[in-house]
Amino acid sequence: MSVGVFYGTCSGITGNVAHKIAEAFEADEVVNMEEDFDSTDQLLAHDILFLGSSTWGQGDVQRDWVDPLLEIGDDELDFSGKTVAFFGAGDAKTHGEHFVSALGKMYDVFTERGASVVGFFPTEGYNFEASLAMKNAMFCGLPIDEVNEPEKTQARVEAWIAKVKEEIGE
Ligand SMILES: Cc1cc2nc3c(=O)[nH]c(=O)nc-3n(C[C@H](O)[C@H](O)[C@H](O)COP(=O)(O)O)c2cc1C
Repeated sequence: MSVGVFYGTCSGITGNVAHKIAEAFEADEVVNMEEDFDSTDQLLAHDILFLGSSTWGQGDVQRDWVDPLLEIGDDELDFSGKTVAFFGAGDAKTHGEHFVSALGKMYDVFTERGASVVGFFPTEGYNFEASLAMKNAMFCGLPIDEVNEPEKTQARVEAWIAKVKEEIGE
């Protein structure tokens, strides 16, 4: 099983989490969307994909994900048989109406193209108003809030990694 970690980050928060995930799952490829991403073929090369994006604007994906996500939809790429998990940083206080909504936008694109999602995460302990990342009363991935709750990040990352490991049978 080949594991790829792909992340878009502006100030490095999502990038830090990406590297922890890559280490925990012994990723075969770690891609910073700004520097290392050339083609959607890189995504299709892996069986398990960890996809990270912080949220910007009003619930938008990090800028380096915008074109790749459009391409995945336009080219009708086939992600069936692939397992994907989402993660990303946000700010539940200042941007509580769109908290980590990028995860939900990525979820919509990849599930539309056939991917199976693991790593849903409970909302307990997060204080936010609304989020497109809410799917069936859970977050569709791992939200990180380094702006307001940096002390919770490590435990959240560890709990999520353990949950994903269980789900993928590692
Ligand atoms: C202009 C601006 C818009 C933002 N919009 C959102 C948003 O809609 N939702 C959210 O959860 N966080 C939002 N944030 C917070 C960032 O996602 C947060 O600072 C995050 O830690 C950045 O992570 P990164 O370093 O991985 O890019 C915004 C921040 C700024 C400065």
